[in-house]
Amino acid sequence: MELPLPKVRRADHHDARRLAELAEETFRATFGAANTAEDMDLHCRTNYGEAIQAGELANPDMVTLLSEEDGRLIGFAQLRWGGAPDCVKASAPGEILRLYVARDWHGKGVAPMLMRACLEAMAARGADVAWLGVWERNPRAIAFYRKFGFVEVGDHVFPVGSDPQRDIVMARPVVP
Ligand SMILES: CC(C)(COP(=O)(O)OP(=O)(O)OC[C@H]1O[C@@H](n2cnc3c(N)ncnc32)[C@H](O)[C@@H]1OP(=O)(O)O)[C@@H](O)C(=O)NCCC(=O)NCCS
Repeated sequence: MELPLPKVRRADHHDARRLAELAEETFRATFGAANTAEDMDLHCRTNYGEAIQAGELANPDMVTLLSEEDGRLIGFAQLRWGGAPDCVKASAPGEILRLYVARDWHGKGVAPMLMRACLEAMAARGADVAWLGVWERNPRAIAFYRKFGFVEVGDHVFPVGSDPQRDIVMARPVVP
């Protein structure tokens, strides 16, 4: 018998510390082997920490969604409203800034639930196009986004520490 999937909920300010921990843990698990320790440490210092994630949770132009199992955070997604690269053709773009699932939950339906919740939150906010940047050397994530109808529309630079990496920019209509 299939076990029910953990539900997705909106994060609030109480979640800052655990969100920071999961964000750093999953970033390191995903990219640690392909980057220098110095670049990883610099990136993590400047992007993750209770105060940084608390600021994101308080930002009215961001929404954070969490998936939780038995009190443990196992996945999160963060949406951001604001600018988009020129290659994204939209009147009201919404960015999927981060979407990360703990490794032991890959392939088990958590990421699709988070993605569906992202698209619902985008629709609720009136976004017409969802876009994201994904490292060109992250084939699993690219395949995942393609499954959800995202197509490549351009690229941009995403610095990890001192390394300017090429991110593929992908986009799709929020409502197909
Ligand atoms: C990206 C992520 C959220 C996707 O969640 P997931 O549960 O792994 O996704 P799914 O298993 O539903 O889909 C992944 C697809 O990629 C395929 N895949 C796996 N490894 C692959 C590879 N090396 N190359 C190409 N496709 C691959 C899988 O077969 C699957 O497709 P299928 O459902 O048709 O079989 C998750 O892998 C993750 O958290 N990764 C680490 C963080 C990350 O990279 N986040 C994105 C940053 S932009």
